[in-house]
Amino acid sequence: MYKLCINPSNKKSHINPEIQGHFSEHLGRGIYEGLYVGENSEIENVNGMRKDVLEALKELKVPVLRWPGGCFADEYHWKDGIGPKENRKKMINTHWGGVVEDNSFGTHEFMELCRQLGCKTYVNGNVGSGTVQEMQEWVEYMTFEGVSPMADLRTANGRKEAWDVDYFGVGNENWGCGGNMPPEYYAGLYRRYQTYVRDYRPGKHINKVACGANAGDFGWTEGVMSTCFNKAPGNVHGFMDGISLHYYTVPENWEKKGAATDFDEKMWYQTLSKTLFMETLIKGHQAVMDRYDKDHKVGIIVDEWGTWYDVEEGTNPGFLYQQNTIRDALVAGINLNIFNKHSDRVIMANIAQMINVLQSVILTDKDKMVKTPTYHVFNMYKHHQDAELLESFIETKEIGLVDEFKVPNLTESVSLGKDGKIHATVTNLSATESYEIGLSLTDTEIKSIKGEIVGGEIHLHNTFENPDVVTVKAFDDIRLEGKSEGRLTIPASSVLHLEIEI
Ligand code: AHR
Repeated sequence: MYKLCINPSNKKSHINPEIQGHFSEHLGRGIYEGLYVGENSEIENVNGMRKDVLEALKELKVPVLRWPGGCFADEYHWKDGIGPKENRKKMINTHWGGVVEDNSFGTHEFMELCRQLGCKTYVNGNVGSGTVQEMQEWVEYMTFEGVSPMADLRTANGRKEAWDVDYFGVGNENWGCGGNMPPEYYAGLYRRYQTYVRDYRPGKHINKVACGANAGDFGWTEGVMSTCFNKAPGNVHGFMDGISLHYYTVPENWEKKGAATDFDEKMWYQTLSKTLFMETLIKGHQAVMDRYDKDHKVGIIVDEWGTWYDVEEGTNPGFLYQQNTIRDALVAGINLNIFNKHSDRVIMANIAQMINVLQSVILTDKDKMVKTPTYHVFNMYKHHQDAELLESFIETKEIGLVDEFKVPNLTESVSLGKDGKIHATVTNLSATESYEIGLSLTDTEIKSIKGEIVGGEIHLHNTFENPDVVTVKAFDDIRLEGKSEGRLTIPASSVLHLEIEI
């Protein structure tokens, strides 16, 4: 039996809802077709946004959405995406698939999408090929109220009131597609560009996000923190509120990533082992950050994470469209548990990407849509949003087929939710074995326990023909034992949510 111990009286840190954030880029069928079909579409929509998709997303309580990229962000010129649609520039999306970008989804549409979702806004600015003036004017356009050229332009385009920009990214992957810069060069630019990301309205702070590292490039974090962490006099927020981190789970390697649905048990463990590397990365970057920022003023924002497989056969290689199986459910559960456990430093994370791109929560095909196993995991984990992380521990053993890719059999995180209940999420990484778990709460009486689960054979996935192969199912295999203890058996390859009433 494996023990899961929870200490309800030791609250470790606050779990920002943004940890369950999303990312959607002008890439493939993510924005166009996936989220936005336009007002004149035959697909039912509200102001151009797909009704079915938005309904499903609202259930997840999406806390924040990052847009417009990704690599697209450093080629995006926001003025191309405002004003009458017929006058907007048409261009080739050179980065992603060479298709026509007609700019019909721009700033107003993004803000409308976030309004309908009821989520915070995370706008990513252009440092790679944009000017300081362009970035300054975008922030003014979105957030300034009063007499100004950009506020007037916004009003002329039909929107008098300013919008809230909750987070603003100053460039994306500037070590790569965002300009191929060395860290010291980017850090200098960051200091300059962020100066003009102004808080125009009292009480409406825009959280500034510096471009962070590619996976284990700790030198990048060092370069950016050493130059940018200085507190500006009179500015309580300093130069930055967050620094990003990008890490994808690529099962094999970047040349041959591996298929989304056709994989063996060895590849299952290899994928999960590579997912667990996220924790090593967070600890490593945090160690560098701690040298400058021991009070954790700057948060880690993992604004791109998820699985990256070979694209589905017959699809545009630049569209990054992939299926999603129980393996992805595990990747989501493991990552979200890691983010919870590090919520004293990780203040946001954005899965890449929301719809039809990489590890999506929803896939669409014309008027059809399907919720992926990853969607169902997010739906169970939503109870952690805005909750307090509790001290917890689970006993584990090492499992796997080859030494290099051994993993613990179980991972977990536990929080005290806004609803006053304890929410524990547990992942079983074994492809074949179930485990008995003994649950124990320190000095706390359990009134009741309810469970729900996403799991099954490792290749299971939902298709447009069979959309409900993988869903959230009720889990009743729990016995209360004494006042503060319980016992359950977690099936192989599953993600479990326990709601414990105390
Ligand atoms: O999410 C796909 C791409 O991955 C993003 O555009 C880029 O930031 C990253 O390399």
